[in-house]
Amino acid sequence: MKKGFKGLTYLLFAIMVMLVLAACSGGSGSSVSVGIVLPTKDEPRWVQDEQRFKDALADSEYTTEILFSQGSSAKEKENVETLISKGIEVLIIAPQDGAAAGAAVEAAKEEGIAVIAYDRLITGTDAIDYYVTFDSIAVGAAQGQYLIDNAEGTNNPLYLYAGAASDNNAFLFFEGAWSVLQPKIADGTFVIANSSEAEALKDKAELTREELGQILGQVTTNWDPAEATNKAETHLTAVGADMKGDVSILAPNDGTARTIADVFASDPAVSSYVITGQDAEKASAQYIIDGKQSMTVFKDVRTLVNDAMGMAVDILDGSTPETTGTYNNGNIDVKAKQTDVIVVDKNNIKAELIDSGYYEASEFTGLE
Ligand code: BGC
Repeated sequence: MKKGFKGLTYLLFAIMVMLVLAACSGGSGSSVSVGIVLPTKDEPRWVQDEQRFKDALADSEYTTEILFSQGSSAKEKENVETLISKGIEVLIIAPQDGAAAGAAVEAAKEEGIAVIAYDRLITGTDAIDYYVTFDSIAVGAAQGQYLIDNAEGTNNPLYLYAGAASDNNAFLFFEGAWSVLQPKIADGTFVIANSSEAEALKDKAELTREELGQILGQVTTNWDPAEATNKAETHLTAVGADMKGDVSILAPNDGTARTIADVFASDPAVSSYVITGQDAEKASAQYIIDGKQSMTVFKDVRTLVNDAMGMAVDILDGSTPETTGTYNNGNIDVKAKQTDVIVVDKNNIKAELIDSGYYEASEFTGLE
């Protein structure tokens, strides 16, 4: 009898120890090894990234959690703090605002967490270990080159639009585009229709960050399709007939390209337009098939996700991730892995986006 009671005490004690251990290790399911923070669910680009992360992680042995910042740096900081409290060892983050995100990653760094900037660089801080990215200068250069290749004669009206100045990529895209467009503005192939700042700098092959900022300040869309619509309408109202006819439009990404294209398409004095984009969003693939958007720059998110997760796993395993170069973020040279991009227009859309398995043919109409 006495022995039985002792046995029961031992059993209760053992159960208590197990419960305490489970709580410490986060065995209730709250422990996460890799935290992923993405800027917003409002743009298909980032929902696409979420899906590609989920696909890649389906059979991973590591636990991950993806949180969205909904366009707010405060929410982003909160997300990082939530993930820190869940015990993450690696943070993968595409910042909402590259400079404002410094505070969030510094909080992670203080906890010994490795920080990987994803697609967008975090600027003005030492608290960043790696950067996985597409070749963003090449994105802009491809957009500019497409406009050049599709322009005939001289004095072609050129409308310039850019991304948000809080996003380092917006500078890189514009810098890349300017590197090829500037000589063609200087030689009279194009005439800038909508930016006095760009017009004032048209003889300068290489722009400083401040000069780029001046142009962006005038032609930014803030990555917002509605703001892009407003700007395009204002521009078309302001110009004379000589800035209409056959026009060329540098649009920074697909979301803004579609709304800008809609504005130009509805102006009877615009007889044709060539417009760029990037991201190969499904809606823009359909616009390209329908002849409403000219091109997109395909950034295969599957590669970026694999690179980011590969780096995270290397870090968790205690090995050093492979990198291909560095990006200066204003404070340090950040070790980076960079991925190439592919230009897609109606001629290769099937090969690049369908045959590669990125999208299903059944998701589109009118595909040949
Ligand atoms: C990304 C683009 C995206 C844009 C707006 C950029 O930083 O590189 O792919 O279209 O942000 O979200």
